[in-house]
Amino acid sequence: MLLIGSTGGLVKFSKFIRIPEMVISLLFLVTGGFMVMHVANFGFLFVVKLVFVLAAIPTAIIAFRKEKKLLGLISLLLLFGAYGLAEIHKSQFGNRKAFTEEVITSPDASNYDLSLHGKALFNAQCAVCHGTDGSAGLSGAKNLKKSQMTNEQILDIINHGKNTMPPMEGKYDEQELKALVKYVKEFRIQ
Ligand code: HEC
Repeated sequence: MLLIGSTGGLVKFSKFIRIPEMVISLLFLVTGGFMVMHVANFGFLFVVKLVFVLAAIPTAIIAFRKEKKLLGLISLLLLFGAYGLAEIHKSQFGNRKAFTEEVITSPDASNYDLSLHGKALFNAQCAVCHGTDGSAGLSGAKNLKKSQMTNEQILDIINHGKNTMPPMEGKYDEQELKALVKYVKEFRIQ
């Protein structure tokens, strides 16, 4: 309505929308804060997203106060942009192919190395919390150098997760699980 210039409608609408808008903005901030605390792998994209959202809120408020169409449009675009970035970010996390391209993943190949396969998978999916040396302890992760788990227990925690460690059942095939278990246990002797 801001955009089509119906001022009477806008006044009513903005009164009506103000409270849900505040709630939504607040939710954005809270979920953002939650992500910062619980997800270790926020990078450049995440910061851009945060800036977008933080910029969108005052822009929207000013736009409504002064009934500026352009500003309203900008704040909408910022929010859409932030949402788009969030989606991109989501799809990047979980894309292990990009990380395992460099390594031989077929156990039939003559130069196949189970540890290297495990390392590629680990660095792609596990290091965000455990660190590449297994001892980073981000998001409450246990130190893998000190872990005493058996193969079965490691498989169980990968498949079913525990506390902030997400369940990853079905994400890895048998060979990949074997490689991960081997690599996880190698941290102990380093
Ligand atoms: C989002 C963060 C996160 C990711 C990603 C993650 N972990 Fe964990 N991991 C944790 C947390 C938290 C714990 C501790 C769980 C508990 O006991 O409360 C843990 C515990 C473990 C343990 C048990 C250590 C012990 O002796 O108690 C193993 C083994 C493990 N993770 C392996 C992996 C592997 C392999 C991957 C990748 C496939 C992985 N983790 C990905 C957070 C994560």
